[in-house]
Amino acid sequence: GAGLGLMVRRQEVLEILCGGLARQEYRGYDSAGLGIDGDKPGEVVFFKEVGKVAGLRKQIAGTVMDYNKTFDSQVSIAHTRWATHGPPSRVNCHPIRSDEKADFIVVHNGIVTNSGELRAVLQKRGYEFETETDTEAVAKLLKYVYDSASKRLSFTDLVKLVLMELEGSFAFVFKSTHFPNEVVTARRGSPLLIGVKTDRKLKVDFVDVEFARDPSQASILQATSPTSSTSSLAPPTAKPAALSRQSRGFMSEDGLPQPIEFFIASDAAAVVEHTKRVLYLEDDDIAHIAEGELHIHRLRRKEDANQTPGQIASTRSIETLEIEIAAIMKGKFDTFMQKEIYEQPESVVNTMRGRVNFDSNKITLGGLREYLPIIRRGRRIVFIACGTSYHSCLATRAIFEELTEIPVSVELASDFLDRKTPIFRDDICIFLSQSGETADTILALRYCTERGALCVGVVNTVGSTISRETHCGVHINAGPEVGVASTKAYTSQYIALLMMALQLSEDRISFTERRNRIIDGLHAMPSQIKRVLELDSQLQQLASTVADNKSLLIMGRGYQYATCLEGALKIKEISYMHSEGILAGELKHGPLALIDENMPVIIIMTQDSLYPKVQSAFAQITARKAQPIVLCTEDDDGIPKGAKTIRVPKTTDCLQGLLNIIPLQLLSYHLAVKNGCDVDFPRNLAKSVTVE
Ligand code: F6R
Repeated sequence: GAGLGLMVRRQEVLEILCGGLARQEYRGYDSAGLGIDGDKPGEVVFFKEVGKVAGLRKQIAGTVMDYNKTFDSQVSIAHTRWATHGPPSRVNCHPIRSDEKADFIVVHNGIVTNSGELRAVLQKRGYEFETETDTEAVAKLLKYVYDSASKRLSFTDLVKLVLMELEGSFAFVFKSTHFPNEVVTARRGSPLLIGVKTDRKLKVDFVDVEFARDPSQASILQATSPTSSTSSLAPPTAKPAALSRQSRGFMSEDGLPQPIEFFIASDAAAVVEHTKRVLYLEDDDIAHIAEGELHIHRLRRKEDANQTPGQIASTRSIETLEIEIAAIMKGKFDTFMQKEIYEQPESVVNTMRGRVNFDSNKITLGGLREYLPIIRRGRRIVFIACGTSYHSCLATRAIFEELTEIPVSVELASDFLDRKTPIFRDDICIFLSQSGETADTILALRYCTERGALCVGVVNTVGSTISRETHCGVHINAGPEVGVASTKAYTSQYIALLMMALQLSEDRISFTERRNRIIDGLHAMPSQIKRVLELDSQLQQLASTVADNKSLLIMGRGYQYATCLEGALKIKEISYMHSEGILAGELKHGPLALIDENMPVIIIMTQDSLYPKVQSAFAQITARKAQPIVLCTEDDDGIPKGAKTIRVPKTTDCLQGLLNIIPLQLLSYHLAVKNGCDVDFPRNLAKSVTVE
């Protein structure tokens, strides 16, 4: 954050930084670090630690320094890292410095894909690298450009020149001893927002969209060399508007600067306890903060040379966040995942709130309204997602096809891109993502946008990249999901897709009865979920009996195939036990060979039209001496005596998966606890996979 006109103690700065990091830990968490102003002007003090933010706090607490030193304006930066280049280690922790004096320091999310080439060029020019990170090439490039420029450039101009050399995705924050009390931040492909805390009315000054290197102009790396005193480093072709007093963004009515604090973060969770007023940056925005003013500049790259300034939005609005800090706290629960499992009776209501009218059985998804006729005319619908979000697509595909009578294909975003899947203008592409920031899903979205398809988002995170880059969409309103394993987002995505199918089919009289039954089912859903949660202690016991096994199979078919896959994913990711979802119809084609008296199996046998077929799968595996645990409905007396059962309430076939997944979520949770795993932070996984 950067402040102006307020006296702030070093201790407070450290608190703000560590608190903000802790709230973003779920995005990636193998190490953490920060850089704050030292006692002497221009000095930066670093703290870096492998592991969680708690370790960083410990290191700070164990360091002797003047915690009461006050600043009337200062810039400090901090970072949690999820390693891409270079293993987690203190030296690879951010902030990364440009040199021993730390002329420039930087924190970075994303990947700079051409860092290898930049590194090679800089090494040839005498720069020695101390880390294995891609980020260090950026820090060093800044210093190189600064040192070799023939005239003094502003901090923003320096950053612009550097960004023009970078490929890949990034969100950066830069701090420099040459520009004390200034901060520059920029994004391309990774989320970034600025929280602003002040009592005054805000105006954001949008400086320039014109700044661009002439596409024909050589790269700064080719044009300069540190040995030549008459460097040919090209000055910006158009000078950004000067920071004149008139253009000041944050002046009070009486013309005096007001105490103002800025908080730059990847995620609103990090800033919400300080301010609810945030501004989301767009790709290629560069924000400069100094003397209590915020100015946004645009970087135009070679490929944008043909774009007229009018094609780039020329305003960025300040939004007021609605999330409450309490909503991202654990409350009485041991872990976020447990809290989120237990929140489902309310989160599903929040998804339906204001959208399902249970008196008239009408569905209204405001975000789709204008696009309904186009969707109805679509030749096919393509669902695209990763992980759990992909499973919610599989779970609702059949009912979507049944109600809309439009063929639906379901795609894993990475594979969809690998195959360069043909996409046409009359395709309707629906992107599902809890975070709205999953790199594969975003790339698939851009691929479909380029091909002229209608792109619809179904996301949980307001203001996320997917919600901004789609033509229209639905927020699932499940509330912040912090546990890395997705739970309440799954049930809310499921309901969001169902609502979409219901609304699309509202003009089909022949479906009225079917639709009414589904809407009645939705009405009863919250109380039925509550009943399933009462099975918790039974599932805890079950976890004890299967925890020592190597593997656990989950079998089902039809609507329940998605439940099998999602249940198995939950078990794998948080308890590290091998688990596989198996389509019962495929049993004879291979998986049956796995079955013997030692293989634990859960078979989903809730009553729908495929019940007889699942009964026959049950017979086939018991004939091979397996003792399956049967997930069935409460009143089903057809389950063979002696079979272990997990009994859930019954609902309409296409909704049954909402209830069936919950025992599997609870089972995975208890398995993880039994195995001593860190439930909210499973090893090797991050909440939001913002790299390919
Ligand atoms: C599983 C899980 C992941 C995500 C996947 C997509 O519990 O959390 O499989 O579902 O990374 O993430 P979003 O939905 O944010 O696009």
